[in-house]
Amino acid sequence: MLKEDFYLLGHGEAESRRLLEQTELLVPEAERFVDRLKVTRGARVVDLGCGPRGLLDILAARVGIQGQVIGVERNAVFAEAARRLIAAERIANVEIVEADAKASGLPSGAFDLVTARLVLVNVPEPERIVAEMAGLVRPGGIVASYEADFGVLLCDPPSQAWDRSLEIYAAYAETHGVDLFIGRKTHRLLRDVGLVEIEVSPIVNIYPPGHARRTILLDFVTNCSDALIHEKFADESELNDLIAALRYDLADPGRLVTSHLFYETIGRKPLETSTASVSENYVSAGAL
Ligand SMILES: C[S@@+](CC[C@H](N)C(=O)[O-])C[C@H]1O[C@@H](n2cnc3c(N)ncnc32)[C@H](O)[C@@H]1O
Repeated sequence: MLKEDFYLLGHGEAESRRLLEQTELLVPEAERFVDRLKVTRGARVVDLGCGPRGLLDILAARVGIQGQVIGVERNAVFAEAARRLIAAERIANVEIVEADAKASGLPSGAFDLVTARLVLVNVPEPERIVAEMAGLVRPGGIVASYEADFGVLLCDPPSQAWDRSLEIYAAYAETHGVDLFIGRKTHRLLRDVGLVEIEVSPIVNIYPPGHARRTILLDFVTNCSDALIHEKFADESELNDLIAALRYDLADPGRLVTSHLFYETIGRKPLETSTASVSENYVSAGAL
């Protein structure tokens, strides 16, 4: 087994379950995202940090049986869950590689498309993952990131439990070198590794009462509560009270909860060394 890299939300059963539920909820959004990538039959694709499902099945359907999708996942439990899923769904053109997305060991310049969804916002040194994406893709190929930014994750009317949970979670992230505002900066990371024709498209949702993602902050704090206590960001009794208070506040139907601001950021590897200026490098879905 690989030595564990830091992943903000941990690798427990609850996190594996949360990821699978989240992936199911995100299917329509993921289909639209992949539509934008214009994946062709026979294409070779990598999904870095695929978790137990990620974009694997959607990409597999797009590339068809002549194509290939490789899911790279560092955590053995998530990698095994992904293998079980593709076996259960009899998906023949997906392979799971247990490796570090920062140095996958896959051949460089060999893939038409490299994706990473919701990985950069959970790990230190996200630029190393973007560098690997750019390294794996062939000249003319596409790098596509779908990333969260905590900028507009909010509720109204305000909730003390919400604010305190965010405060604790942000301190925990910062201590581990994780940037919760990476979504808005991903365009820079792509440009810094020489990608061009960068498109940025933002997505924000409302999570009404009963929506499974309304409790996302609660789920985050709950799933990493052992680490929060162990690393003394809160003691057990404060955290238990906080979780109960946040659950209570989120159950209030009069409370508006907005999602993270998600950024779809797409770039192309130039066919030859680009001499384009920075402004020429942007083709923006929402103009920059
Ligand atoms: C929030 S999950 C997202 C999973 C999946 N991409 C999706 O959209 O459902 C982040 C995933 O990235 C994986 N991960 C984090 N750092 C990694 C690394 N250095 N190499 C490979 N996988 C990594 C985690 O184990 C986890 O499965």
